Amino acid sequence: MHSNAFFLGKGGVGKTTLSAAFGLALARSGKKVLVASLDPAHNLGDVYRTVLRDTPVPVEPNLDALEVDLAAWVDKYLEESRTEMKTTYSYAGTLNLDSFFDIMKYSPGTEEYAVLWAIEHIHCDLAAGYDVVVFDTPPTALSLRFLAMPAISNLWVAELTKLRERILDRRTSITRINPESAVAASCVDKDDDKVYGRLGSIRKRLSALQNLFSKESYVAVVLNPDHLSVSEALRIQEELGKIDIPLSGLCVNKRGVSKADWSLDKRLAGIRAFDFTFRTGGLHEREDLRTIETEALVADFLASGPKGRA
Ligand SMILES: Nc1ncnc2c1ncn2[C@@H]1O[C@H](COP(=O)(O)OP(=O)(O)OP(=O)(O)O)[C@@H](O)[C@H]1O
Ligand SMILES: [Mg+2]
Repeated sequence: MHSNAFFLGKGGVGKTTLSAAFGLALARSGKKVLVASLDPAHNLGDVYRTVLRDTPVPVEPNLDALEVDLAAWVDKYLEESRTEMKTTYSYAGTLNLDSFFDIMKYSPGTEEYAVLWAIEHIHCDLAAGYDVVVFDTPPTALSLRFLAMPAISNLWVAELTKLRERILDRRTSITRINPESAVAASCVDKDDDKVYGRLGSIRKRLSALQNLFSKESYVAVVLNPDHLSVSEALRIQEELGKIDIPLSGLCVNKRGVSKADWSLDKRLAGIRAFDFTFRTGGLHEREDLRTIETEALVADFLASGPKGRA
């Protein structure tokens, strides 16, 4: 069994509904489950009929849930970056960091990093108390960006690490020629260099997250019987394929919602598909989630992962 499950897909296809129903079914089968919503526009609490917070709230025996406070994680990430800049680079004191960080709050990538560090926190500090963590995700665009972030950032960090090695080598050469030179004081071994050390620890954190997404997670794509959500599922498959994150399951939700013609693209044929009927009466109470047919999906999830299929 994998220790994490992610439900991805186009807006409105049923990611929150299926995450909630899947988490509930697993919990009632005896697993200890945490369902975490990463969507800035939360409604997991509405689905479970409980007020949720940024920390785990008990929903019922074996089942806790939380809604990540993304704005708080953005502030925390910026604050950490500010402290780190100040301690790592002494000359940064001469720069106006406040206006720099004001801009960074809205710069591309900030929200994705905030989601990553929130996932890292759940993984490192909370997951040990559970058998499974289920992630309800935001619509595709943001999800694909944060899932790709570890792989992309690691390329950057690898280049920066090489650059830092070259700088340290140059300092050593200069100091050897002229021990009185201005760089002599900052001529240190790689292992004693703060910047080199920081790059190494960022690499480790990013690799752990990449590993979490690509090896320790059951990644399910939710779609509806319509062309648009099939196209989106294909896009997700293609983008995740580039960063070595395999899809474990396809959840075809809202079956029977319309009589319109549709078909599952043959490029998705290799992925196990699970059907979920559209409930015309709607889903109002937590117990209504029991009408969502999660048995086959739960069975596939339990058989997945390092101990089941590879
Ligand atoms: N199988 C189903 N039968 C009936 N209604 C459903 C079913 N699945 C989802 N719905 C309804 O469809 C709507 C959207 O579902 P949900 O909020 O789970 O989608 P989502 O993918 O999480 O959306 P968002 O992208 O906005 O987060 C909700 O009103 C939900 O109750
Ligand atoms: Mg949702």
